[in-house]
Amino acid sequence: MIANDTFLRALRREPTPHTPVWLMRQAGRYLPEYNATRAKAGSFLALARTPELCAEVALQPLARFPLDAAIVFSDILTIPDAMGLGLSFAEGEGPRFARPLRDEAAVRALPSPDMNDLRYVFEAVACTKRALAQRMPLIGFAGSPFTLACYMIEGSGSVDFASVRAMAYSRPDLLAQIVARNTDAVTRYLGEQIAHGADAVMLFDTWGGLLTAEAYRRFSLAPMQAIIEQLPPQVPTIVFTRGGGGWLADIAQCGASCVGLDWTVDMTLARDTFGARVALQGNLDPLVLLTDAHTVAREAAAIVRAAGAAPGHVFNLGHGIVPATPPENVAALVEAVHATSRIARAGLV
Ligand code: CP3
Repeated sequence: MIANDTFLRALRREPTPHTPVWLMRQAGRYLPEYNATRAKAGSFLALARTPELCAEVALQPLARFPLDAAIVFSDILTIPDAMGLGLSFAEGEGPRFARPLRDEAAVRALPSPDMNDLRYVFEAVACTKRALAQRMPLIGFAGSPFTLACYMIEGSGSVDFASVRAMAYSRPDLLAQIVARNTDAVTRYLGEQIAHGADAVMLFDTWGGLLTAEAYRRFSLAPMQAIIEQLPPQVPTIVFTRGGGGWLADIAQCGASCVGLDWTVDMTLARDTFGARVALQGNLDPLVLLTDAHTVAREAAAIVRAAGAAPGHVFNLGHGIVPATPPENVAALVEAVHATSRIARAGLV
């Protein structure tokens, strides 16, 4: 039995005493203790490959703030790394692949990853689950097949992923092949995370919003739906497509328990339209956390009110927390979400 299961209840659209809250990238560089652990490990990748240290940093934000869920500390790019693309992170630059998918031969030669090469991730899941001691649920995650393809083709981060979007028009067959490989890999990867203790899983589709509606359905949403269909039905799933606000009617039907919203989406409208079918997660602009405690509390309360009293809202940011965030503003956020939602449930507002 999990002591605080408000997050899992909200994903199932069951009533909870308060709105559960967790934050994308809640373990990370805005916390001095994270930077200390990363320095001890030597690098981000060395940290991500040491299960005990992954558990340590996953628990760091929970020691500071009364968050309602933990997320495994890892990265979405572990899968293409295990496919042999050669992942590295240059200091201050973001991810880079030594062997991106530049031509048809590279796509044909793309191997299926051996889950043994990803055992460090599953051990991080098990280790974090043990360290949590059933206090709250643990979220496992993966990148969406399309978002992984973006990095695999481009070879690094990008503002527009031009080579990927060009491929969607010029060689849709090649893009479809890469996405199909990723779909199989992500399905097995999330299955292992669940087997090692993940209580819910989330698909991060950071770049699906770059596509046309038709290409989004084909290359991003359909593969995510295929993954969800193959996972154990009792494990709640969250799908987050950044920039997917215009396609919520389709996303709400993909089989996920919960749909993540970025900060551009109108929470009231989304809840009124889709709230009876799926839980919704979001959607505070992460930059609000760069202001002050008063502004943070005001904006958090506005989202809690917009989400309304019906069950099925998980509070989160509309994207990852930024490194310049003062930790005290995160404390103010969590407090405001809990307090405002408790008052709302008591019928006091
Ligand atoms: O949410 C959490 O606390 C769990 C950990 C987590 C990380 N990456 C740790 C990380 C999660 C869920 C991710 C997902 C991820 N990784 C995504 C999808 C979510 C999103 O933000 O859109 C993407 C696109 C990646 C790929 C990736 N990893 C990038 C682009 C970067 C560089 C980002 C930057 O700001 O420099 C990373 C590195 C990374 N992953 C860091 C962390 C804490 C920073 C590395 C460091 O400590 O130097």
